Amino acid sequence: MTQKTIGIIGCGAIGAALAEYLERELKSCVAKIVLCDSDHGKTEILAGKFTDAVVAGGIAETVDTADLIIEAASARVVPDLLQQAVDKGKDILVMSIGGVLGNEGLLEKAREKGIKVMLPSGAIAGVDAVKAANIGGIESVTLTTRKAPGAVKGAPYLFEKNIDVEALTGETVVFEGNALDAIKGFPKNINVSALLSIAGIGAEKTKVRIVVSPDYTRNIHEIEVKGKAGIITARTENVPSPSNPKTSYLAALAAMAALRGYFDSVRVGT
Ligand SMILES: NC(=O)c1ccc[n+]([C@@H]2O[C@H](COP(=O)([O-])OP(=O)(O)OC[C@H]3O[C@@H](n4cnc5c(N)ncnc54)[C@H](O)[C@@H]3O)[C@@H](O)[C@H]2O)c1
Repeated sequence: MTQKTIGIIGCGAIGAALAEYLERELKSCVAKIVLCDSDHGKTEILAGKFTDAVVAGGIAETVDTADLIIEAASARVVPDLLQQAVDKGKDILVMSIGGVLGNEGLLEKAREKGIKVMLPSGAIAGVDAVKAANIGGIESVTLTTRKAPGAVKGAPYLFEKNIDVEALTGETVVFEGNALDAIKGFPKNINVSALLSIAGIGAEKTKVRIVVSPDYTRNIHEIEVKGKAGIITARTENVPSPSNPKTSYLAALAAMAALRGYFDSVRVGT
């Protein structure tokens, strides 16, 4: 197998975990890891842990150097980054999936050029079944997400509606709407709704409820899909990432599984 140079944009909870996974488990597939973060201290510390890692000066340099780009930074960087990947023929794994919504045309261009774009299933279960069910026809998709106040604090929607999640004393529905509005209101917290939209019937038709309670200790995602194939329900109770409570540990693991799949000729599941 040809070894690949992997560029990681965003070296926080997920980016650092993926760099460590590449170094530990996929070393034979990796020629070099190129690290990029607007916080240069993070990249220097991370690069010091690996034998074949270098620090890039910025996003453009990372894209130019890498064969496969991993985005684990922010939804804001995604549209331009996807465009650069398409223009320069680079494969890409996107974590901030909210940034893909509204830019689905770039996925089509990637398909035309044979560029691999990976959108991992993150912290939800059932995406395999949603993709399959969608071929037969889906009538409705609902995502109910339950989080502790600290996992949604700072979201623009909460400011706009003047909701102080830290003052809540019990289970409270803080948002109910479609995935498009969920992503706008909670850009760092509800990437799974974007992924579910892309796998299923689109962001306008995908319904989202966000419930917050001080009693929750895990990020819980429940999906319910109704369609010609029947009813699909799936629930994950996610342990938060130790370095970022907004991120579920399973999201980093899902990206690791996607990376493993990228280098594997055998595909398991839909
Ligand atoms: N798909 C999913 O299910 C899922 C789950 C969790 C998180 N996410 C998303 O993945 C991304 C990473 O999550 P995380 O928990 O590692 O976040 P994090 O805050 O721990 O790390 C993000 C890193 O990106 C860096 N960064 C931000 N903007 C940048 C830019 N323009 N250029 C370079 N570096 C930049 C930050 O300095 C930080 O080090 C977030 O956008 C998050 O919303 C997706």
